[in-house]
Parts: sequence; structure tokens; C-alpha cells
Amino acid sequence: MKLALLASGNGSNVAAIMQAINDGTLEAEIVAIVCDQPDAYVITRAKLAQLPIFVAPLKAYKTRKAWESAIADYLKEKGAEWVVLAGFMRIVGAPLLEAFPHRIVNIHPALLPNFPGRDGIGDAYAAGVTETGVTVHWVDEGIDSGPIIAQEKLTVDPTWTREELEEKIHHIEHQLYPKTLQRLGKEEEHFS
Ligand code: GRF
Repeated sequence: MKLALLASGNGSNVAAIMQAINDGTLEAEIVAIVCDQPDAYVITRAKLAQLPIFVAPLKAYKTRKAWESAIADYLKEKGAEWVVLAGFMRIVGAPLLEAFPHRIVNIHPALLPNFPGRDGIGDAYAAGVTETGVTVHWVDEGIDSGPIIAQEKLTVDPTWTREELEEKIHHIEHQLYPKTLQRLGKEEEHFS
């Protein structure tokens, strides 16, 4: 699988995917990393790993379409087959969806369709739920709305702080995302 990873922040999921590739549990190659936030730590991670990185702030482009088309062109040029959103805090639109049909996935830190949006962990915590979790799903033009590929549940201990919940969620994400990508790659081999 030739993966392009799109991220906006810390990049702990990017790191988990890199690790799984190094361990051999994910048979894939990262051909590109794209980040829309020039100060994001994921850029440092990409550089340390000597992976190709494209920093593309939205405001550097005249239109949203021009920005997204530039990203899609870069990913095509790098030979990406799969687009993996890992904390990418932007809605994906037509240029990427049309360039990579049925090949864009996202991870969300809640049990969709519950708590979509920017702060799935904080929203679930504030709601006082007894169960939350992590979702990997196909990306469509909506916000965290595409068909679900995989979910893992987490029972919330009512004594946990928000930070503790966040730590448990990230721990699940870092296992579930590489595992699900490996499964998708194998399914594709099987059906092609
Ligand atoms: C993750 O919780 C992911 O589910 C959400 O954004 C967060 C990104 O974290 N979409 P990181 O940048 O991978 O550390």
C-alpha cells in the first residue's frame, strides 16, 4: 500500500503508522506526508523519518479548490494509492475525493455517529458517557460522516479525568489505525 498521510497537529497517529511499518505489521510505504499547519510537530516527525513532506497552508492559496488541487497533484506525483487522514483538521472536498475515489480514510476519537467534529474526546467526556471509543471510516464530503470501517469501544471509568480518557483513546487509535489499514490492504489484494 502506498500511503499518503495528511495531518495538522502532533502526529502521534502518523508515528504509530510509521512504527507499524517498521515492525512489519503494516505492509505499506509512506510516500508522502501533507500538513496544513506550518508549526505542527508532525512536520518534525516527517523530517526525522526522512519522509517527503508537503506543507500546504490553506491561506497560501487563492481558493480552497486551488489548495486542495495542489495537494491532490502532489499526492498523485508521489504515487499515493491511499489517503490516510490522521488528525487532519480540514474537510475534504471534490478535488481529493475525485482523485482518490474510495481510497480516503479517517480516524475519529469517538464512536461515530456519536460526537463528530473537532473534539470527539472532550464532547464525549462532557456528556458523561459510560462508553466511547475510536472509529475508522471512509471519508465523504461531510464531517466524520462516511461509512464505518472499524470501531473499538472503551468503557469509561467515571473517576477518569479528561486527560486520562484522552490517553486511553490515543492508545486505542495507535493500535486500531495500523491494524485497519493492513486489513484494507489485504482485502483489496483479495478482491483485485
Ligand atoms: C486523533 O485523536 C484523531 O482521532 C483526531 O485527531 C487526533 C490527532 O492526533 N482526528 P495526532 O495528531 O495523531 O496525535
